[in-house]
Amino acid sequence: MKLLLASNNAKKRAELVRILGGHGIEVVVPADLGLALDPVEDGATFAENARKKALAFAAATPLPVLADDSGLAVDALDGAPGVRSARFAGEPSDDARNRRLLLERLADVPDAKRSARFVCALALAQEGKVLAEASGACEGRILSAERGHGGFGYDPLFLDPGSGLTFAELDSSRKDALSHRGRALTHLVESLRRLGWIEGRAP
Ligand code: IMP
Repeated sequence: MKLLLASNNAKKRAELVRILGGHGIEVVVPADLGLALDPVEDGATFAENARKKALAFAAATPLPVLADDSGLAVDALDGAPGVRSARFAGEPSDDARNRRLLLERLADVPDAKRSARFVCALALAQEGKVLAEASGACEGRILSAERGHGGFGYDPLFLDPGSGLTFAELDSSRKDALSHRGRALTHLVESLRRLGWIEGRAP
């Protein structure tokens, strides 16, 4: 199976390519097809935004299109930054500014109340129709200072309680195994197998 990844975020795309490659799925990115689309992400939920992005790119190619909408939900902030994770500190999107703002907003919140989760919604669309959807989440805690240099976005502030490491300290295969994106992709690949789009068993 070959699909277009409907994302302009290079770091996120790299994770999706890595995980999908492990399932034998061939991936092309918008630049490979000369596509430069930036669909408005104004949905109220991650799932709505993922569907919008997948359908917008699917209008420009006959290939099946996979879109990911994801972000961080912090309990002490009533679920913020949520669907606004990429633009939390304003436009244009800037990961370092977003992390600084998150630390400011949580400055008075004690460790025990800094629970949070990453959420990922995936949508696969083709010819004007959504063919499959999946989601995944992972629980963690927001630190009061950054740790680690891997990953992207809020990773240096997101502590995985099981390993005691932030997502920026975990190596990439470990992040993929634990992350919201890895979990959502596992569910999506299961659906694609059931639909007969891909063969074989999970690696
Ligand atoms: P999207 O392109 O609108 O889905 O934006 C996702 C935003 O959520 C990114 O810009 C990051 O700020 C954040 N995010 C999503 N997934 C991750 C992750 O795996 N690690 C760190 N931050 C993430």
